Amino acid sequence: MITRKRTIAIYPGSFDPLTNGHLDVIRRAQEIFDHVIVGVLNNLSKKTPLFSPEERISIIKECFEDPSVELDPARIEVETFDGLVVEYARMKKAVAIIRGMRALSDFETEFQMALMNRELNREVQSVFLMTGSRWIFTSSSIIKEVARFGGDISDMVPKPVERRVKEKFAQTRERPVANSK
Ligand code: PNS
Repeated sequence: MITRKRTIAIYPGSFDPLTNGHLDVIRRAQEIFDHVIVGVLNNLSKKTPLFSPEERISIIKECFEDPSVELDPARIEVETFDGLVVEYARMKKAVAIIRGMRALSDFETEFQMALMNRELNREVQSVFLMTGSRWIFTSSSIIKEVARFGGDISDMVPKPVERRVKEKFAQTRERPVANSK
């Protein structure tokens, strides 16, 4: 009997926070790969994250447990990682690194990252999945920007994310101020 090797894919990112666009990519990845590992980057060198890695993991797990997200929880896991994504992929025996592609603006950075990752490890393939057109303009940073000023993000993020983002900004909400002369 021929047994097919289980295909594992890594989906790395900051996920600060997880958006509906990310969930859409994970759903699509589950259609291709047997097992998807969501890797939350531990040290975000250039920016101060809104959520700690532990908070991001717990939020993502909460989202995965919700049956309405339509993911297969038996074939997905989430954990933090440090260092190079290709080393992480090697450690996990992953055959692919998944990245979501929204608009053309994503292309240059993603292309550069994919080529560098290939240079570092030729055994792992970068796989780009187009997000649903609904999520083309959704990003973690724009969501934080909107939520910071009290805007409605309910259409762009899963419920647990909406609640946790609101809680984070509850004490520090900056209100728009009209500049007077
Ligand atoms: O969600 P993001 O912030 O676009 O994710 C970027 C991420 C985490 C995928 C990228 O920064 C990364 O892979 N970091 C790990 C360090 C690494 O391997 N860098 C080399 C890739 S060029």
